[in-house]
Amino acid sequence: MNIRALLSEKVAAAMAAAGIPAEFGPNLALSKNPKFGDYQANGAMAAAKAMKSNPRQIADSIIQHLDLTGLADNVEIAGPGFINIYLSSAWLASISEQISADEHLTVQAAEPAQTIVIDYSAPNLAKEMHVGHLRSTIIGDAMARLSEFLGHRVIRQNHIGDWGTQFGMLIAELEETLSETSQSFQLKDLESFYQQAKKHFDDDPAFADKAREYVVRLQSGDQAVYALWQQFIQLSLAHSEELYERLNVSLSRDDVRGESYYNDQLASTVADLEAKGLVIEDQGAKVAFLEEFADKEGKPGAYIVQKQGGGFLYSTTDLAAMQFRIQDLKADRILIFTDARQGLHFKQLFTLSRKAGYVPEAVELVHCAFGMMMGADGKPFKTRSGGTVKLADLVDEAVERSEKLVAEKNPELDAEQQLEVARKVAIGAVKYADLSKTRTNDYIFSWDAMLSFEGNTAPYLQYAYTRIQSIFRKAGESDAYLSAAVVLEHEQERALALKLAQFEEVLLQVYREAMPHSLCAYLYDLAGLTMSFYENCAILKDGVDPAVRDSRLRLSYGVANTLRCGLDLLGIEVMERM
Ligand code: ARG
Repeated sequence: MNIRALLSEKVAAAMAAAGIPAEFGPNLALSKNPKFGDYQANGAMAAAKAMKSNPRQIADSIIQHLDLTGLADNVEIAGPGFINIYLSSAWLASISEQISADEHLTVQAAEPAQTIVIDYSAPNLAKEMHVGHLRSTIIGDAMARLSEFLGHRVIRQNHIGDWGTQFGMLIAELEETLSETSQSFQLKDLESFYQQAKKHFDDDPAFADKAREYVVRLQSGDQAVYALWQQFIQLSLAHSEELYERLNVSLSRDDVRGESYYNDQLASTVADLEAKGLVIEDQGAKVAFLEEFADKEGKPGAYIVQKQGGGFLYSTTDLAAMQFRIQDLKADRILIFTDARQGLHFKQLFTLSRKAGYVPEAVELVHCAFGMMMGADGKPFKTRSGGTVKLADLVDEAVERSEKLVAEKNPELDAEQQLEVARKVAIGAVKYADLSKTRTNDYIFSWDAMLSFEGNTAPYLQYAYTRIQSIFRKAGESDAYLSAAVVLEHEQERALALKLAQFEEVLLQVYREAMPHSLCAYLYDLAGLTMSFYENCAILKDGVDPAVRDSRLRLSYGVANTLRCGLDLLGIEVMERM
């Protein structure tokens, strides 16, 4: 159910009937205070200003034509011309009933569905995944799940860093290691393997020569070196995949389309840009000079697409990827999740891609930038000794901390249940801490804050869910309440039902803005309203009218499903008890 869209449509129709030009929209907003209704239509002021008439009179003429029969109990004008809309409780009750009876929670499939390419995670395979890749992986995955739930065609693209000169050194090292050990060698610790190869490269000139030779042979398609490279990529990718699995991230092998995939397109892309006059030679390099990015002196921004000496760059690969995503994947919308430091790269990439005609006007390109993860000291998050934090270690620590917490809070659970709950709480906490912050800001990583059972955290939401489940267990076997009428008498019931009915509009907002923290804020509000509903509205106490009891159970059922679904879209699991 999309209340906002429905009301907007009705108000727009009333505005048209009142003779207001269509360029003035209804400008619908949520009321901040229940005194001013549930929603407000604020379009009368702008229309009146342009039409040089009195905004209250315009508002009045809109109301004269506004038909909200069955949807609203009362509509009134306030202040300079706000139209306050008080939704009908009976209507909200019927929406709660529908939500409780629908697996898809009444969320409509997008019409038309878009093909959306989501580029996220994208670790560099030379090194082990570290916390820097956490944000991209988690936020991108939430967007992929949510877009799919809304009925869009989602194409995940894991644009892994699998090409470049470091791989010469790594495969030379791999070759030596393989000849010394058995063929069943596993890259247990990618980070120390990298260090070892680097040291070898720095200390042993013969090895360094071999590494450089391997780069050349790799680039010219030498079979043996290529096979070695492939083996290294598989070994490294297995590391990332283990983490995806632990983090409940929905990326699979099929989503991997690394930088190497575009090798064959790089030369022709540069040639094409040159032919179009968008790239020229400058000191041996091939450069696009973009006046859109001119500095104060008017000197255009330089976007290098080929190095002096012929080597291609990150930019060239991305230009090829753009064409692939439009021509082959048929994207209507492309979202790319990396940290904010790549902002200029993507601005220039998008500008050049459009100028070259690679990306039609109608296709939306968004660099979904995020801030950095900071330690308690306000500096980039590091290990105690100042190194980068490996993602695997971070996940281990989260699970350890959460095991202790769960054992303390609920010693009655058996050992197996405790482990299961601890795992879900740990992963949920790490992900939610990230997702609940405004994406574009830096945020401070804090174990205590993220594992707290109070406040806007995963454990709090998971707990709210288990609390509802325990009520269902106490209510007994029968689920006859699922066909009961929902009646909203109490203020807390109504507030909860209204929130519940707004799920779809929040999802649409997150889809539009690629800002999952809005969904977190919504779920947090929903859980908070549920808690105050339970404090104020008895369900299973003696003396509660069976019809009231069943109405409240049915409402709770819709809330539980919405909490579970919302968390699932964020990649977070719930449990029956904790
Ligand atoms: N591998 C890159 C990194 O680790 C991120 C790639 C993002 N996607 C892209 N199309 N450039 O920073």
